[in-house]
Amino acid sequence: MKVIVATVILLIQNALCADIRQALATKCVNTLGVTFYTASQLNTIFACADPQLYATPTNTTAMITVAKNCIINNSGSKALTALSLYTSINSCLNPDDILTLAEEWATPLTKLTKTLTNKCIKKIKTCKAAGTGQEACLQKFYTLAKAGITKAYVNTICTKFVKQNLSKTQYACAIKYAPQVVDVSLYKCATLTIS
Ligand SMILES: *[C@@H]1O[C@H](CO)[C@@H](O)[C@H](O)[C@H]1NC(C)=O
Ligand SMILES: *[C@@H]1O[C@H](CO)[C@@H](O)[C@H](O)[C@H]1NC(C)=O
Ligand SMILES: *[C@@H]1O[C@H](CO)[C@@H](O)[C@H](O)[C@H]1NC(C)=O
Repeated sequence: MKVIVATVILLIQNALCADIRQALATKCVNTLGVTFYTASQLNTIFACADPQLYATPTNTTAMITVAKNCIINNSGSKALTALSLYTSINSCLNPDDILTLAEEWATPLTKLTKTLTNKCIKKIKTCKAAGTGQEACLQKFYTLAKAGITKAYVNTICTKFVKQNLSKTQYACAIKYAPQVVDVSLYKCATLTIS
């Protein structure tokens, strides 16, 4: 009896409010190997950036700013871990600073992910133009994003990025500390030889 009730509740939940944002957050943790955040924390971070995404889907500058603030604002319990990771990476990269590098890396990463990003953003634009509301449009956006961001996709982007944009030292530092945020055993990108 309990099983039947639970099953019915699950079915109703799926039918009424399939939440793809939550499903993407869960995929990041369960399939893509993210270990630094829980699915629930990721879901909060995604949801935090939603209003900006719906308001200005094509403004990359505005999106990056809000995404950064959403990460900072919702990482309270991780702040100390993040700070210690930041210090360790910087001493590995010395004299480079990871935040300065990250700003430089934003351009090549944006370029590498352009096809998928454009597809997802276009979805929001046409959805808005059709007069559909924020949450419904974002659910369509997350559906495309979730389908597109597979392990193979992450590995491809990562490999291209490492080969064209990382020095040997930068890659070595990334490989040393990446296991603190993601399960690197899932990705061949973590086993490259950079000369
Ligand atoms: C994009 O957003 C930034 C920051 O909010 C703003 O200064 C800029 O004017 C926007 N650009 C466009 C093209 O709307
Ligand atoms: C982050 O928190 C600050 C301070 O509470 C707030 O002003 C800002 O709007 C928040 N940003 C986002 C994107 O939630
Ligand atoms: C990344 O690599 C591309 C292609 O080689 C190059 O055009 C770009 O300047 C590089 N960017 C950085 C930040 O290294």
